[in-house]
Amino acid sequence: MPTETNEPNKLDKLITLCKQRGIIYPGSEIYGGLANSWHFGPYGAVLKNNIRQAWLKHFVFSRSDVVLLESAVIMNPKIWEASGHLQNFTDPLVDCKRCQKRFRADHLLEAKSLEPGYSREKPVDWSEIRCPECGGELTEVRQFNLMFKTHIGPVEEAGSEAYLRPEHAGGMFTDFKIIQQTLRRRLPFGIAQIGKIFRNEITPGNWIFRTREFEIMELEYFVEPDAWQPAFTMWLEAMKTWLKSLGVKESELVFHEIEDGERAHYSKRTIDIEYNYPFGQKELYGLAYRTDYDLSQHAKYSGQDLSYTDPISGQTFMPHVVEPSMGLERTMLVTLLSAYHEEAAPTAKAGETETRIVLKLPLHLAPVQVAVLPLSKNEQLSAPAQQLADSLRPQFVVEYDETQSIGRRYRRQDEIGTPFCITIDFDTLQDKAVTVRERDSMKQERIALDQVISYLSTKFKVN
Ligand code: GAP
Repeated sequence: MPTETNEPNKLDKLITLCKQRGIIYPGSEIYGGLANSWHFGPYGAVLKNNIRQAWLKHFVFSRSDVVLLESAVIMNPKIWEASGHLQNFTDPLVDCKRCQKRFRADHLLEAKSLEPGYSREKPVDWSEIRCPECGGELTEVRQFNLMFKTHIGPVEEAGSEAYLRPEHAGGMFTDFKIIQQTLRRRLPFGIAQIGKIFRNEITPGNWIFRTREFEIMELEYFVEPDAWQPAFTMWLEAMKTWLKSLGVKESELVFHEIEDGERAHYSKRTIDIEYNYPFGQKELYGLAYRTDYDLSQHAKYSGQDLSYTDPISGQTFMPHVVEPSMGLERTMLVTLLSAYHEEAAPTAKAGETETRIVLKLPLHLAPVQVAVLPLSKNEQLSAPAQQLADSLRPQFVVEYDETQSIGRRYRRQDEIGTPFCITIDFDTLQDKAVTVRERDSMKQERIALDQVISYLSTKFKVN
């Protein structure tokens, strides 16, 4: 059964599953929807939160050199002037003169480069590029700023203009000095942040891959000017081990060194970690060496001294920065794609099998950790099953379900990635033991009721 590769229709299957199983819904659906906006349903919200917590553990709490920040979404607009976002945070836009559809010029060039005779290096004659929808002539390329503009206060005048943050870096750079001083930090150290950011993307799409509001998990790692290369290597390794911990196979990843002229305006070196999605090989994460560009710019525009003095050498300099940046929704997408499996599973009839869909999520990410399922809807079984579920709830995320056949309830839990199902049957009333079914192997074990908590604690490695 083809479940290992990211075949093109795997995405459609995953989208359907996520809608049916309360993981991700189309946004604003009862009003006809809002294109490219998604709501994370009850299980999706927990999965997302588990990814956040795992990221914090991996990149912040398991280290002594990174601290957390939560800066504002709307900040002084001068931040975006200083960082170059007002000027440079643009995508090239073209319109079709015939069908009026809008495209990102760089995406059209990328597509053209895939054709024989073209390469990324070879400049393309723009007059040869036509509308991919209707073949019509395209307009000249215009630069379109991706920042969402808003107004502070009741009057929409020039002086009240502000922007929703298009990345976290602005807040982390402008707070560098106060964090360094109040937390008495020495270089190297990092500031991490997770939260929503907003970009008025020209061509959002591919489900949660490219949207206009999304979360980023990123950090700015401040180092001495000549120490950026080892830091760059260290963070690349940290990103690789992180992806492995999500169940993402290294064979699905491509490490793409971004050439001169294609990097963001602030970067001197960038590696994009690309993933082999069902819709093609595209960016998953970015790792950038931002030099001292941002701190120098903010020092210049704010008039504040943002330099650092080394307490041992007494040298004063502007720190340089390495920035690993990871989209939360893209993380969720590759985690789900890696977890999605279809395989043959036995039915109640001897010798017969059916296809089961199972999300083989890493244990620490599963939205429901344990399902308690009485064998059938029967008062004699419900009471002890409810009791067991209640006793597990202080330590585990538990779901109790007594409707439908046991087989269908197992399938449902498989489809949301629940690692353990506990069944209470009539034998339980006599032997005070339950059946624990493991999601991936479907193996069943009989465990004494009073051993269930310690059994699960060992499995989840919690005490
Ligand atoms: N501070 C650097 C920065 O923001 P970026 O490559 O523009 O870098 C970081 O964005 C990450 O955010 C990307 O690697 C990707 O994972 C995610 N990302 C970027 N644009 C996105 C979008 N429109 N929708 C969802 N995720 C996005």
